[in-house]
Amino acid sequence: MAFPLQRPRRLRSSEAIRRMVRETGLAVDDLIYPLFVTHGEGVARPVEAMPGVYNYSIDRLLDEVAAVARRQIPGILLFGLPAGKDELGTEAYSTDGIVQQAVRAIKKAHPGLLVVTDICLCEYTSHGHCGVVRNGSVANDETIELLVQTALSHAAAGADVVAPSDMMDGRVGAIRAALDAKGNDQVLIMAYSAKYASAFYGPFREAAGSAPQFGDRLSYQMDPANAREALREVQLDIEEGADIIMVKPALAYLDVIRLVKEQFHFPLAAYNVSGEYSMVKAAAQKGWIDEKKVVLELLTGIKRAGAEIILTYHAKDVAQWLQEGVKT
Ligand code: PBG
Repeated sequence: MAFPLQRPRRLRSSEAIRRMVRETGLAVDDLIYPLFVTHGEGVARPVEAMPGVYNYSIDRLLDEVAAVARRQIPGILLFGLPAGKDELGTEAYSTDGIVQQAVRAIKKAHPGLLVVTDICLCEYTSHGHCGVVRNGSVANDETIELLVQTALSHAAAGADVVAPSDMMDGRVGAIRAALDAKGNDQVLIMAYSAKYASAFYGPFREAAGSAPQFGDRLSYQMDPANAREALREVQLDIEEGADIIMVKPALAYLDVIRLVKEQFHFPLAAYNVSGEYSMVKAAAQKGWIDEKKVVLELLTGIKRAGAEIILTYHAKDVAQWLQEGVKT
């Protein structure tokens, strides 16, 4: 009887050897926690489709951010819910907009925490599109002007990183030039470079009140069928000055993450989006899956695919589990 010379199981035979040959690590350093900020005081409004996620007023947000900082999560991503919406999304770029106020408060309390702000108009426009609508479609260049104003106002408030998520052509270059012209050459740009027109954003649109009132986002977000196009989008954003590139969503696009990682030597982020979170939470609430194990497996998969930064609503839980010394 011939026995195998190579026995891969030898490398799995104890926790010590498994630790030693483990190829992918998941660390708290990899995580960015998205947060939603709203007007008012004492507000913590649960987002129904995203258990554990809330719309916070600034006072409550500060408590939450303190908890994030205590868990050593290096960064947060802020989304704003304005007091009112209009055709041009004016609250997105007002000096006293909700995100601008929140950034000032957070940076004052936690100067070392990396504050990333989402740059988009969809939460602020009455029609829910990511830009200025002209003749039924989103006008690219006119929208860029407003995105630039938004980025400048976030930078002035103290944002460390601005993250344009609108998918207009040329917005990264315009934002970079405007930031530099205003002395903000140290503000980073994390570009939502390959952002797909995904049904997995559904719960986010409840959280941010940002569903389009007519039509869809297919004329600016990418077709889920395309991978080569993602490489062109990433290349353009790098040429325009992006510091960090992003693929979004994460789980249905692991191949895209890998492709981008192989071709570009830039820090790569992946956004584990709202619908991906909701699915896990729903199944876990039903007792159908082990939430902790599933989340750690999914995030390890995103890292194995090639992302070094993961934006995820699971970040707080994951930080806690990693602190407790859960084996990944
Ligand atoms: C804004 C924006 C969206 C998300 C991040 N920034 C929604 C969208 O494009 O409709 C989605 C995040 C998530 O689903 O968790 N444009």
